Amino acid sequence: MPRKILVTSALPYANGSIHLGHLVEYIQTDIWVRFQKMRGNTCHYVCADDTHGTPIMLRAEKEGITPEQLIARVWLEHYDDFHAFHVAFDNFGSTNSVENRECAVTIYNALKAKGLIEVRSIEQYCDPLKKMFLPDRFIKGECPKCHAKDQYGDNCEVCGAAYAPTDLINPFSAVSGAVPELRHSNHHFFKLSAPSCQQFLREWTRSGSLQAEAANKMQEWLGAEGENKLTDWDISRDAPYFGFEIPDAPGKYFYVWLDAPVGYMGSFKQYCTIKGINFDEYWLQGSDTELYHFIGKDILYFHALFWPAMLQHAGFRTPTKLFSHGFLTVNGEKMSKSRGTFITARSYIDHVKNTEYLRYYYAAKLNGSMEDLDLNLDDFVARVNSDLIGKYINIASRSAGFISKRFEGKLANHALLAQCADTSGLTGKLIEDNPKKNLLELLQDASAQIAELYEARDYSRATRQIGALLDVINAYVDATKPWELAKDPSNVEWLQGVCSVALQAFRIVTIYLKPVLPHLAMDVASFLKVSELQWEDAQTLLPEGHGINAYQHLMSRLDPKCIEAMVEANRESLQTTPAVTQQAAATPEQAKPKAATTSVQIGDATLPLKKPDANISPVAETISIDDFNKIDLRVARIVNAEHVEGADKLLKLTLDIGEAQPRTVFAGIKSAYDPERLVGRMTVMVANLAPRKMKFGMSEGMVLAASSEAPGLFVLSPDAGAQPGMRIK
Ligand code: MSP
Ligand code: ZN
Repeated sequence: MPRKILVTSALPYANGSIHLGHLVEYIQTDIWVRFQKMRGNTCHYVCADDTHGTPIMLRAEKEGITPEQLIARVWLEHYDDFHAFHVAFDNFGSTNSVENRECAVTIYNALKAKGLIEVRSIEQYCDPLKKMFLPDRFIKGECPKCHAKDQYGDNCEVCGAAYAPTDLINPFSAVSGAVPELRHSNHHFFKLSAPSCQQFLREWTRSGSLQAEAANKMQEWLGAEGENKLTDWDISRDAPYFGFEIPDAPGKYFYVWLDAPVGYMGSFKQYCTIKGINFDEYWLQGSDTELYHFIGKDILYFHALFWPAMLQHAGFRTPTKLFSHGFLTVNGEKMSKSRGTFITARSYIDHVKNTEYLRYYYAAKLNGSMEDLDLNLDDFVARVNSDLIGKYINIASRSAGFISKRFEGKLANHALLAQCADTSGLTGKLIEDNPKKNLLELLQDASAQIAELYEARDYSRATRQIGALLDVINAYVDATKPWELAKDPSNVEWLQGVCSVALQAFRIVTIYLKPVLPHLAMDVASFLKVSELQWEDAQTLLPEGHGINAYQHLMSRLDPKCIEAMVEANRESLQTTPAVTQQAAATPEQAKPKAATTSVQIGDATLPLKKPDANISPVAETISIDDFNKIDLRVARIVNAEHVEGADKLLKLTLDIGEAQPRTVFAGIKSAYDPERLVGRMTVMVANLAPRKMKFGMSEGMVLAASSEAPGLFVLSPDAGAQPGMRIK
């Protein structure tokens, strides 16, 4: 029976860019979801932007736009980043949606009906100039313990002391600088201290829904039996606030952390409406579907205490399991802006391009625990090149050529395969443990164990197991030496057999790697001329005489220079270009959100339907294919880029398109690009444009860039793997 599974990742805040720390979580979840789908389970994966709260409200104000405009812009940015890393949400929504409001109100009303909401007056700091109550993080002052100046209202970064904002000496508002005043206000509380909540959480902690480490934390938070350590949770905030107004309390809003986890439901509800899925089947109490939340250890408190208690008492099901993970460090240290290791998803995409390298590296390190995980940049390059290229891709590149050139792309028949797949000449533990199996059987047998490891989110052991299989296949190729066999015509049959075994083996391993490398697996499928690979497909072989395509380059080596450039760019971006989300809109036109009016379903993705953009010019007159073919477009590597003395629009580019001499091109892209950021990048050039003499020298072609009436200029790049000189048709 296929399982019915709903999976979520934590909702990223809509006021910052996605960085490599976030991606630990999204990649970890995506691998698990892809694995479940490959197994034939029904698995829905939803996420959304977390859009409410004071920081987002203030950020929008600072940029001179509405919060709605800010979150629409960030949504598009996040959407693109996730897409580039192959994080395939079935629905990526927003907590600022009608569906989410509906779910939040339903839960609130249910809790209220149970007598679990209480209104109490509290005293809180208020900014008299901005006329707003201040969250702890927006009040600063002198630490009451060590007297360090300029410390936040909740704890001191110098001595680590925790305190209440009212303990600060000489407090001031971080928003306006005014001296805050204490004011009374009514707040709504969720009565977590009620015996029914405490009782339920104690039981839930023991129900196996938490990793051992998380269950221990819970015990700590709950205290000993009868201790009643939990206090009520303040779920309301006063206007002005960006969020949902509480239905029966004008001027009061749900605190962002109330409607954030509800956002899992809201996003799923949106998806259910589009797809005709039964929402209740996944969310009502007594549901026999499975619900998993992947989260970072920093937000365990919200997910292990508040969230299950809310769900339980509002008549909904509770999560089957919380999968909590640790934090990313880079080169053994906390990500740091000054060291350039606070790396944004975007800068990775710009510099490294191939996002599957990172998916593989994270997979090789993730073990399903709450331990922190280190991205060591040297190790990253070494492992990608040795494991992915050296051990995996090379199997195909070493054997496919013979099949194409000598056998018209046809694989050997199965009798010959069985003969050739014999492992008797090989050594190693896997072989010794399975003396009776031929190479392909041995690979097929590994399926169950690798599946178990994926299921347990122990991807590091899964990749190690796969690595052991790759070692055996490589040992096989080394021992059978197809390149030697090819020299003697009497070995022709054997040559076809051995190369076919290697390619059959390559296909099986590709299936095992597909949750981690989905894009590559797709390319392999088209190279092998097969349809989408499912987990069970590992148990069958490609048919006798199956024809494959000529080998196309599948993945290139990772050049350490890209990593250096990426780190440099992240260091620089601090002083020169602020992160996109922090950039103030230069013109009111720019500030307009590219907001979706509604959405459209394309395949499994929900895409926003955009209004026609006035900045986009109409499409030009139709031309024939012959007209088009006159233009010789080539992939070019920018080997150098520099400013041109006296030119205010031009950069001088040196382009390698595989010719003996590089070309010089003057490009009008100075307004949009720092020359240093272009060096090493691949782009597209018109190679047969008549050379043009310019004031600064001869320009021998043209690079292509996108633009419109609106500001912004975007140089084109080919997908990873394209080589200088390739023709673009
Ligand atoms: N908006 C909240 C989550 C609400 S869920 C109902 C939030 N957002 S976040 O953008 O700060 O983080 C999103 C997820 O990324 C969280 O699970 C967080 O733990 C994770 N990570 C953020 N930085 C991280 C690292 N440096 N390392 C690993 N995970 C990290 O929290
Ligand atoms: Zn202090």
